[in-house]
Amino acid sequence: MKRPLPADAFLREETYAKTRLPVDFASTLIPDAYVSPEFHALEQERVFAKSWVPVCVPDEVREPGQFLVVEVAGRSIIVTRNQAGELRAHHNVCRHRGARLCEGTGKVKRFFSCPYHAWAYDLDGTCLGTPLFTPESDVPVDQRAAFDMADIKAFDIAEMGLHPVRVAEWGCLVFVCLDPDTPSIEHELGDLVEQLAGYRLDEYRLARRVEYDINADWKLIGENFMEYYHLPWVHPGLVKISPMDSHYRWQGAGMYVGFCTWPIAANTDDGGWKGLPPVTFVQGQDAEAARFIWLFPNVAINVMANHVVLLLAVPDGPGRTAEVVYLLTHPESIAQSTDSEAEIDSLMNFWDEVNKEDIGIVERVQDGLRNPAYEGGRMCYRFEDSCHRFQNMLIDRLLGVPGVPPGDDEETVRMFGPRDRSEQT
Ligand code: FES
Ligand SMILES: [Fe+2]
Repeated sequence: MKRPLPADAFLREETYAKTRLPVDFASTLIPDAYVSPEFHALEQERVFAKSWVPVCVPDEVREPGQFLVVEVAGRSIIVTRNQAGELRAHHNVCRHRGARLCEGTGKVKRFFSCPYHAWAYDLDGTCLGTPLFTPESDVPVDQRAAFDMADIKAFDIAEMGLHPVRVAEWGCLVFVCLDPDTPSIEHELGDLVEQLAGYRLDEYRLARRVEYDINADWKLIGENFMEYYHLPWVHPGLVKISPMDSHYRWQGAGMYVGFCTWPIAANTDDGGWKGLPPVTFVQGQDAEAARFIWLFPNVAINVMANHVVLLLAVPDGPGRTAEVVYLLTHPESIAQSTDSEAEIDSLMNFWDEVNKEDIGIVERVQDGLRNPAYEGGRMCYRFEDSCHRFQNMLIDRLLGVPGVPPGDDEETVRMFGPRDRSEQT
């Protein structure tokens, strides 16, 4: 297939024929998907504007009036909590002349006030006044009559609320969905809700948040996360605590890719995942396992018995990603630790080290993909079934193919070492 492909090819099923093959025969997603501005624009509209997109952790919007401005598919959205403590999301655009209401993060007492002409909206998005005269208002009392709009014609303030966006909370993540027709988040998560229920992820609290600017497409970060083929060469420290032959497929039905390491080996001089005390409610194999999930479209969830790490890969234009890494801990671990801050620092240092190794390699892949001589590569079935699943989910969403992929018959399947592949089926 000669590159670059014309933009109209991106919405044709035959363009993806080699990736649609069973993994044993398949090739990777077309390289233009990682470099083309036209593909990026389509992906924003057809994937990100139609999916449940993770945007933050609950602690970033814990209190009523605490807000965070996020961008999904190019739309600016305010995520907040109302006075009753319920999550709310609205398009960050004033209903008067369209000014952006809020920037960044912050906390308001009762309402958002537009910086342009002071129209105000409460935490449920209801338009309160035009402008609102409150005890805190800057408008002198003797001038307020000039702003009174009581006699305005054909204007119903009840219809002037902020445009709402669907919002949901699951575990330690908050999601928004721009499309009213997308099925519920539970439908998308599939069996993950049940599979991770024992970890009580909703009780985890934010301990560290770090941002990384990456010169690579968000999909490369995901694909790199979900295959451990590169471990010996890219992560000499990580492979000591997460040995190749301790990896298992752990794949149920849902819009995700899952695998696990069991057992996690002890920390080495290069660091590791142990240190902070584990929670007591995670028992048996799970107490010694690391579970890794790439939840479609763009977040990695790493779950261990003593901490959780999220990698949120936010697309930032073609070939660029603004990644946010969150480290979360459970109050029980913190209570049992004699020096939790030092333990968290050493966990975060280890993740930072591993993440920088990954960033270095995905940026090299991004550079390679810009060369039109590269036309896509053959999947390595033993390690890259995960990438195959993800790329096919992406193609499905891009082309509007509904549904959630099924899982394996067996809950876990060893992935490395000599084996007869027929044993898996
Ligand atoms: S644009 Fe918001 S009040 Fe005028
Ligand atoms: Fe890696």
